[in-house]
Amino acid sequence: MRKSRTLLVILALVVIAGAAVGITGWYKLLREEPQPAWVTATPEMRFKYGSIGGENDAGIPYWIFLVLPRMFPNYLPGPGGYASLGVPWEQGQELPVGFTKKVIGFPRVANNCAVCHTTAYRTKKNENPTYVDAGPGHTVNVEGFFKFFIDCAKDPRFNADNILYEISQEVELSFLDKLIYRFLIIPITKQRLIEREEQFAWIYRDDFPDWGRGRDDAMNLTKYFMIESPMDDTYGPTDMPSIWNLKKNDPEAMTMNWDGATHDAYSVIMDSALGLLGAEPKDRDEFLEHVDWLTEYLRNKPAPRFPFPINRPLAAQGENVFQQNCARCHASERTGTPVPVAEVGTSRARLETWNAEAAVAGNKIVLAMGIERQGLVEDTMIGYIAAHLDGIWLRAPYLHNGSVPTLRDLLEPPANRPKIFYRGYDLYDPVNVGFVSQGPDAEQVGTVLDTNARGSSNQGHVFGTDMPPQAKEALIEYLKTL
Ligand code: HEC
Ligand code: HEC
Repeated sequence: MRKSRTLLVILALVVIAGAAVGITGWYKLLREEPQPAWVTATPEMRFKYGSIGGENDAGIPYWIFLVLPRMFPNYLPGPGGYASLGVPWEQGQELPVGFTKKVIGFPRVANNCAVCHTTAYRTKKNENPTYVDAGPGHTVNVEGFFKFFIDCAKDPRFNADNILYEISQEVELSFLDKLIYRFLIIPITKQRLIEREEQFAWIYRDDFPDWGRGRDDAMNLTKYFMIESPMDDTYGPTDMPSIWNLKKNDPEAMTMNWDGATHDAYSVIMDSALGLLGAEPKDRDEFLEHVDWLTEYLRNKPAPRFPFPINRPLAAQGENVFQQNCARCHASERTGTPVPVAEVGTSRARLETWNAEAAVAGNKIVLAMGIERQGLVEDTMIGYIAAHLDGIWLRAPYLHNGSVPTLRDLLEPPANRPKIFYRGYDLYDPVNVGFVSQGPDAEQVGTVLDTNARGSSNQGHVFGTDMPPQAKEALIEYLKTL
């Protein structure tokens, strides 16, 4: 009797202890807390800071994220921490635009769409930047981010002693939290970041130039991360596009992405969101709700207005020039459909990064997650989309590879366009319509684009380049109104 009672007591204690460890483990590592209310207070805030679920598999522990720039400034392109990677950063915010913070057991940081789809611009030097959400992220150095985290993780100084010391300068973690950081969070983070190096092998190739600010090798990212295709020899850096006013793409015939590789906006948004998660969504319904919200928001978000005066009579003349020279592609049945690359004459590099086989594989993967979407076009792409030109003033640099700095340059024959310029400086140039891309400031802040480098050719799109100067002037004035 007594023996079995003792056994029962021991058993009960073991169960209680086990449950305590289990509950503590769940609490410290897995419990989800909603983001604070300010994050979802307005649609703009939600777009810029709202989690779409990336913290589960693609996140970095917040405290580690915070201390890395201080520990490893040598792996950043300049002073100023993450700001040196060109992320839009609003005054008073602890994280840059496009970075989300959420507690899943412990605070974690991940990304949302806004990191690549928010435009920073200034109308003059001595003013704070304006941030236009859903605009092209022309300042952000995405490759710099990828490489920074991998470089930090590979450094022997990335260890529990050093990181916990740096964290202690910011916050007093409890004894238990310190243990969890030392034995679980720090080693796992290190290992996961190092594992990324292999997936990113192609960006380390010497014959592939850096993407530079405002571009990424989008379809290769899709191939190597989503579809896990073997690496090939293609390289096609692309300019971040604007994603406002997506309802203009509703008509069935219109496809999306620079080459029209995707049927519709919902599919691109879905695939982009899955890319940010880096894994199958944990909670499918919640994830689909985010994607639906994004789709509605971006369908209805208007393109921004040109923030300088416009000469209206001149713009009215320019409208005629546009009708005669440009509308047959940019405001017609052809709009939103691919123009053969031989006809537009721009770089082929981006086209070569994608193929029908990859589309078939990508569609299978998403369907296997039980997600319905029209998806990727299972066909060979022939050229680039003649897009709507709404808000075109803020979509500089121009063409799919961002190889032409201003609208004025685009109306010059390719031989007269700048061969070397700097991307990612946010000062606006209302005369040439684009960003300032030459001179000491642009050079200091920006990354160089050499049009002779692989994937960066500025050839082609010669439409309107032989017009008389007055017609070009009028056309530029009109383009400001779109
Ligand atoms: C790492 C940067 C990055 C992130 C993050 C990102 N995008 Fe994009 N997005 C791009 C690039 C680059 C393209 C152009 C791809 C191409 O066609 O080569 C693009 C294309 C698109 C397009 C098609 C635009 C058009 O005119 O055809 C849409 C829509 C879009 N993204 C929405 C989103 C949404 C919504 C999210 C978040 C769920 C997101 N993106 C996250 C870089 C990004
Ligand atoms: C034959 C069809 C065609 C005609 C005509 C045409 N375009 Fe284009 N346009 C395109 C295509 C296709 C692209 C995408 C090319 C690329 O990115 O490689 C493009 C790209 C552009 C871009 C860059 C868009 C961006 O987001 O970077 C601008 C600006 C533009 N065109 C303006 C004009 C103007 C102004 C005219 C008239 C003078 C004109 N186009 C005439 C087909 C055309």
